[in-house]
Amino acid sequence: MIIIGCSKGTHIAKKIAKKAKKPYSELKVKKFPDNESHIRFTCDVKRKTVVLVQSFYGNVNDYIMEVIFAAETAKELGARKVFLVAPYFPYFRQDSRFNPGECISIKVMGKLISHYFDKLFVIDPHLHRQGAITKIFSTKVEKLTANPCIIDYIKKNIKKPLIVGPDWESYKWAEKVADQIGCESVIMEKKRISGRKVKVTLNKKIDITDKNIIFVDDIISTGNTIRGAVKNIKKLGAKKFNCIAVHGVFVENALEKLRKEKVKVITTNTIPNKVNKIDVSGLVAEGLGK
Ligand code: R5P
Repeated sequence: MIIIGCSKGTHIAKKIAKKAKKPYSELKVKKFPDNESHIRFTCDVKRKTVVLVQSFYGNVNDYIMEVIFAAETAKELGARKVFLVAPYFPYFRQDSRFNPGECISIKVMGKLISHYFDKLFVIDPHLHRQGAITKIFSTKVEKLTANPCIIDYIKKNIKKPLIVGPDWESYKWAEKVADQIGCESVIMEKKRISGRKVKVTLNKKIDITDKNIIFVDDIISTGNTIRGAVKNIKKLGAKKFNCIAVHGVFVENALEKLRKEKVKVITTNTIPNKVNKIDVSGLVAEGLGK
């Protein structure tokens, strides 16, 4: 087995290789003047299981093409198997035809990735309307969760936690984490009005006295979900907040906007950013070893 860091995966791929005690190499990626991508392996992949590590943020579509080129090339060069480790996998939220004529992007991604890869490893995919992940991917897929790492972080760093999930989908993280820690949790309700606009409400009485509030969710993108939740909890008298997310996508200055609302944000390192405090490379290394 050899672990290969692709353009958006090197930050975690090196750690995975170290923890899995496997050799590491980087995919060389260049752009031609007309923006076409050029990829090259600089290691021998013959008869090996090649593990491509790529997180999909930024110019997502470019990075998808990069791994498709790499997977096909690895096979042509004699790789025994090609796996994809995608700490953050994109398009899970476009999982339905919300408006007539729309593409159900995650289904297309499922077909594409299943065609080129022998196995996919993904951390906390946003599984919602499609249900089981095996409905999306026909190739082998291993769904990992950062919950044990989040639990460990909270236990070591935050006393008297009260965990708040900003919408019902977040129960998979918020409620489960709270149950394992043995602390109280509450799930708020969210109405999504558009990609940028949400309305979050709290429909349950909670006592926040002496508690450290921690919002727990899978993704922070614009940050508007958490900001909406903060607005409500502030009405109960809370002044400071923690927020732990698996994937810190952070578009449109989300992190800054949250800081202004006195939210201390912490994420895992599925996507590299300034607030990566929770390392999930061990989860992947363990998954690869099974
Ligand atoms: C959706 O339900 C997810 O769990 C997140 O709550 C959502 O993607 C966050 O997006 P944003 O930060 O743009 O509100």
